[in-house]
Amino acid sequence: MSLERTLILLKPDALQRRLSGRILSRFEDKGLRIVGLKLMQITPDLAARHYEAHKSKPFYPGLVRFMTSSPVVALCLEGKDVIAIVRKLVGKTFGPEAEPGTIRGDFGASRSFNLIHASDAPETAKREIELFFRGEELLEWKPTDFEWVYDVQDEIKK
Ligand code: PPS
Repeated sequence: MSLERTLILLKPDALQRRLSGRILSRFEDKGLRIVGLKLMQITPDLAARHYEAHKSKPFYPGLVRFMTSSPVVALCLEGKDVIAIVRKLVGKTFGPEAEPGTIRGDFGASRSFNLIHASDAPETAKREIELFFRGEELLEWKPTDFEWVYDVQDEIKK
């Protein structure tokens, strides 16, 4: 079975509102594996590199200001199809438009304070994980329920 990794940031509003534990639980409840986790302060330089594709957008200066305004939690998750699964759990970009049941839909009412970032494709995930984690900060381990989260027999039959 091929496993993917994705980069998630719990943004400053998630920490200020003390929602980190509840958001992290959504990923654990889904059966996804945490391989990296840390509290950190994003520097303006790191924010610029992370959001470099959006440099020319009108919201860019405010986004960088917001992301560097107080600590974030950086999280690397691993699993089969984890990038798409996490994007579904996160929901649409802006709280008012996100579906109930998603993280942004349940916790967010703002457009610019949207609680969480999640990588959108394998290439961006690789780039973003390398920006936020050193190799030795990502741990290889296998949870005891792995065979029950994924139908391993079914995968073998394919
Ligand atoms: S775009 O224009 O379609 O490429 O933008 P999108 O992919 O939806 O969003 C890119 C990131 O910018 C954030 N964003 C905003 N932040 C603050 N204010 C406004 N108006 C705004 N619009 C987009 C959006 O949340 C994305 O950041 P991440 O960290 O991935 O959520």
